[in-house]
Amino acid sequence: MTCPESTPETATNDAPVFSPALTPEEGIAAATDLFHETFGEVPDGVWYAPGRVNIIGEHTDYNGGLALPIALPHRAHLALRRREDRTIRLVSPQTKDSVDVLDLDQIGPKGTPGEVPHWNAYVAGVAWALEQDGIGPLQGFDAALYSCVPLGGGLSSSAALECATAVALDDVCELGMAGTVEQPDDAGRARIVTSCIRAENEMAGAPTGGMDQSASMRCSAGHALKLDCRTGEVEQVPFDLAADGLALLVIDTKAKHSLVDGQYSSRRAACEKAAGLLGVGLLADLDVAGLEESLAKLADSGAADAEVLVRRTRHVVTEIQRTRDLVVLLGDGLPLAGEKLAQVGALMDASHESLRVDYEVTCPELDVAVEAARAAGAHGARMTGGGFGGSAIALVDAEAVNTVARAVVKAYAEHGFVAPAFLDARPSAPAGRLA
Ligand code: GLA
Repeated sequence: MTCPESTPETATNDAPVFSPALTPEEGIAAATDLFHETFGEVPDGVWYAPGRVNIIGEHTDYNGGLALPIALPHRAHLALRRREDRTIRLVSPQTKDSVDVLDLDQIGPKGTPGEVPHWNAYVAGVAWALEQDGIGPLQGFDAALYSCVPLGGGLSSSAALECATAVALDDVCELGMAGTVEQPDDAGRARIVTSCIRAENEMAGAPTGGMDQSASMRCSAGHALKLDCRTGEVEQVPFDLAADGLALLVIDTKAKHSLVDGQYSSRRAACEKAAGLLGVGLLADLDVAGLEESLAKLADSGAADAEVLVRRTRHVVTEIQRTRDLVVLLGDGLPLAGEKLAQVGALMDASHESLRVDYEVTCPELDVAVEAARAAGAHGARMTGGGFGGSAIALVDAEAVNTVARAVVKAYAEHGFVAPAFLDARPSAPAGRLA
């Protein structure tokens, strides 16, 4: 389901390996060819949706806070053809020897008899969730997936799948919600996000918070998306790093991360418990001014895990403030340089530290990646996404991308870690139709 990896022209054995993004033409060809080989027909079209990295605002979405993702140029591509019945047939390069066949009337949430296995849950799950949300009825479909969002890399490969499916169904079933990439219907896209989250939470059983689906549907090229996860309001924040001679280097640690194991849900449960003890609906209701008082109240709450709740709460409240501060810095219209650049980098570094110490969602591979990147000249570096593996990002001078990547490769070799992969993270377009 993923693209081949490539090395830069100067590659040597220990040179950084970059995971390239497919061009639109390559994406169309790969998905269409697979569709044709499998189903013997021509698809109605090819749609795509991007993976994402989050600049800052981690583990804030399910607390009603702020996040600041960008869409990656790396996308899931879906060639799809509408059927007149309720059958769904799915194929990817990894499963092309046995096409998966599902019935839209029989599928259901994880843990029920209709449970759908592996990645099919994200695709068929979106059709199911749209109907559950009163959108439809839909028809079945045949679909071929070709994705170059690294799987399990913390870059929202699953949200990309969901959103590619949603925009394809929006089009072929004439639901009229998404608009086009050039003229997006943001309110319709927000509705689609809700169904994609439902697919992920209920069909795939991952209790995630929605930032990933919002990024894939609502980001725009050249911008970061200021996302208010309580209200669903968004703001496009100009984020043209190349114009300032900068780049965002994504380091895929290759340490596998999963959002369906207990760690992610235990963080979410701790936040809900802390909010309950403090008498607020969501931790985003707290602010930094009253933080010490809130933390003292938690410490005295008598809860067996009071000390843990204090640290989780401190992360969430300070992270929301860091996100607010970073958006203000980016919003002044001045180049990202000098003191401003130093402040942005410091906020990223502080975010990682808070996720490492207070939220405890980093791992040695993430910590070594950010330390090595900073030591090699990154202005700031942090883990991105859910953590427990996955990816880190480093804000670097454009001409230092290879130097920083090499430093991370070297540090990984010294620690005996599997070699990391790298991606270039240009803020890119949201989900839409390619052909
Ligand atoms: C994962 C989840 C998101 C969000 C991040 C952490 O990516 O899917 O909803 O919670 O982790 O910020």
